[in-house]
Amino acid sequence: MEETVLVTGAGGQIGSELVLALRKTYKQVIATDLKEPSGEMKEGEFMRLDVLYKNGLMDCVKRFKVTQIYHLAAILSATGEKNPELAWRINMKGLRNILDVCTEAGVKKLFFPSTMAVFGPTTPKVNTPQYTVMEPNTIYGISKQAGERWCDWYFQKKGLDVRSLRYPGLISYKTKAGGGTTDYAVDIFFEAVANKKYECFLKEDTILPMMYMPDAIRGTIALMEAPAEKITVRSGYNFSGISFSPKQLAEEIKKTIPEFTITYKPDFRQPIADSWPQSMDDSVAQHDWGWKPQYDLAKMSKDMLENVAKKNGL
Ligand code: NAD
Ligand code: SER
Repeated sequence: MEETVLVTGAGGQIGSELVLALRKTYKQVIATDLKEPSGEMKEGEFMRLDVLYKNGLMDCVKRFKVTQIYHLAAILSATGEKNPELAWRINMKGLRNILDVCTEAGVKKLFFPSTMAVFGPTTPKVNTPQYTVMEPNTIYGISKQAGERWCDWYFQKKGLDVRSLRYPGLISYKTKAGGGTTDYAVDIFFEAVANKKYECFLKEDTILPMMYMPDAIRGTIALMEAPAEKITVRSGYNFSGISFSPKQLAEEIKKTIPEFTITYKPDFRQPIADSWPQSMDDSVAQHDWGWKPQYDLAKMSKDMLENVAKKNGL
């Protein structure tokens, strides 16, 4: 069957790369966002769409006979702590609208991006298991954990083929990170290339799970293309790439830019980072649909530095 794919929040850090990857596989991929498209995304179908507006979503899904949705629109952790009401409304009501539109209009498959932020300070921090204590203490984490439960409920009760990943912090150069606690691991490359110094908003020894965007895009599409009978988790699969601290990342950057210096000025994002795992056990994803990352710290850093330099015309 020919698939028609809709992506919400398509102009963000993930969407701006995922849409282009999906367009290589599927003939019709409709990118949607509140903001106008930029760059290569302009070359395909685009609609302005607010996920809080269910009628608009429904019209679009019916008009294009959408068969799959990647629902990326959300407010991330740092912005969410500053505006909890907005984060709850977009992350929760937006998802409920999507879930209802899927079941009412017969959309077959849904991707929901969850996060390591569904875990909290009482969760085991190292190699966090797939099933464990989950007491998130950020609005972002609370909304994503509730989102996971809604996704599982729609699978159990309505038969919707929902698939989801607990992304770690994602690192990329095409579109800057959008208001999260892991954004330092993107900003550091841009500052290292442009100014050879960076002031980090997390402490030097704060270890967090991270992943390079090419791995994240490949894993996301692999999960969505896996046979349904292989999928045993309908809430969110633990999904792992690399774990490192700001100090370790700075040392890796110094191998290419020896003059690079880093200073530390922890802010309100430090307690958010402290509440998250340092690494996640993704053996269930490995077993079910064959997940395996390709980028380690050195390979990711080298590729980032080369591409950020190219972007800056160097
Ligand atoms: P982003 O902030 O870069 O992009 C989100 C996009 O959603 C933006 O383009 C924004 O304009 C759009 N948006 C906001 N409100 C909207 C609304 N009401 N209607 C339609 N669009 C709206 O986020 P991202 O980093 O691309 O993340 C995408 C998804 O992946 C999110 O659900 C996020 O929680 C999840 N995630 C991201 C990361 C990461 O490190 N980037 C990690 C874990 C999970
Ligand atoms: N990168 C995201 C954030 O920091 C994690 O979900 O909010």
